Amino acid sequence: MLKEKYNKKVISIDEAVGMIKSNDSVVVAPGCAEPSEIMDRLPSIADNVENVTLTTMLSMKMYDVYKDSKYKGIVNVESAFYSLPLRIANKFKISTFVPSHLRNVGPSMGKKRTNILYTMVSPMDNHGYFSMGPSGCIDQYDVLENVDKVVALVNPQMPRTFGDTSLHIDRIDYVCEVDRPLPTLPEPVIGEEDMKIGEYISELVDDGSTIQLGIGAIPNAAALKLMNKKDLGIHTEMLNDAMVDLCEAGVVTGNKKTIYPKKIITAFTLGTKKVYDFIDNNPSILHLRCSHTNDPFVVAQNYKMVSINTTLQIDLTGQCASESIINEQISGTGGQVETAIGAQMGKEGKSIIALRSTANIKKAGTDEKVRVSKIVPYLEKGTIVTLARTDVDYVVTEYGVAKLKGYSVSDRAKMLINIAHPDFREELTEVAKKNRIFC
Ligand code: COA
Repeated sequence: MLKEKYNKKVISIDEAVGMIKSNDSVVVAPGCAEPSEIMDRLPSIADNVENVTLTTMLSMKMYDVYKDSKYKGIVNVESAFYSLPLRIANKFKISTFVPSHLRNVGPSMGKKRTNILYTMVSPMDNHGYFSMGPSGCIDQYDVLENVDKVVALVNPQMPRTFGDTSLHIDRIDYVCEVDRPLPTLPEPVIGEEDMKIGEYISELVDDGSTIQLGIGAIPNAAALKLMNKKDLGIHTEMLNDAMVDLCEAGVVTGNKKTIYPKKIITAFTLGTKKVYDFIDNNPSILHLRCSHTNDPFVVAQNYKMVSINTTLQIDLTGQCASESIINEQISGTGGQVETAIGAQMGKEGKSIIALRSTANIKKAGTDEKVRVSKIVPYLEKGTIVTLARTDVDYVVTEYGVAKLKGYSVSDRAKMLINIAHPDFREELTEVAKKNRIFC
């Protein structure tokens, strides 16, 4: 009976793409659930449609429609998080950014009428349920409230997860069958500075803490340095490879967790095959909708919650630019603000912003790289502040720890200069004196 229902819904990828009409609002699932077969075929309908709004969140591949201005006005891409493909799409004026905390992305999308949702899922179980896998909770969960058609790409390589990720055959209109590995993130390259930063972070994390780790090399290095801890818990927005190591080493038990004891809580998973194998059919992990995981009131219910995120630049008063430099939108707000604030609201909670003291960046208009300080006197005009200085707690670089919360601008600047790269300290001090940051 269920199998019959399923068989009646099976269509080809070309039929699935052919459903898109002019002026439609289409949502494609993000991250691991991205329906790349649909995205790859979008050029095939370009002559027949216009003004299609395509909403995504974490796009994993450089699709043709992102890199050619001829698709402008045909597909208008909107996203609350930019990865490299969407940064390129923005250069062709094909993508535009939606400012949002992660917890609000799904609910905002759920309030708007969507014509088609395309999402990848795991195969149907005996009860007629598919699993939206590692990234079902970012927005699909909410979009399902207000969508005309749901097209599920059934992939046997999609892990089955527990939590807010199940989708019943009766809620699906069409099925396409695919069989391919999930997109992966490259293994982060962890340098010496990252290991040093990891050591400082480890000093701030007590046994029995619950941790959230952000994206990138630094959070991964932090995890490596937490191997000597006991009874850690995980309540995070993104589950990654480093956390698997902590679980397999017995460091993560969740025994001291005050909300969802013993369970690992995440909104989505992204990494290599190692983490996808770890979450598959694993009842100790709950993928919950991010409007819940990232709600600061929920985060704060964890005793000794420690949020660990990173930033692109921080000014001498503590403002963190974590998503853009001047007018270049590099990533997004994600869950940085809500996890940082939530952690500090909880009992004995801490929020850490960890960054290398310098970055090697391309000099404008050339391929030449220059080393710049990531601790700067001022953020340049156009740069977006992600985490306000009022919400910053600890800042860590390879040169030490600065505890900013509760301290004056003058004290903050001194502490930040102390953990800046020695080559830039004099220059930072001069500007701080000149502009009355020091008093
Ligand atoms: N000035 C100019 N450019 C800079 C820079 C600086 N100070 N620091 C970094 N960059 C550039 C890098 O050169 C790189 O450019 P490229 O991609 O063209 O090579 C780009 O910015 C990304 O920098 P990188 O250091 O590789 O970033 P990352 O992968 O370590 O990620 C953040 C760092 C801040 C972008 C990422 O953590 C983020 O998006 N944070 C906000 C969301 C968040 O915290 N969510 C919560 C947890 S998931």
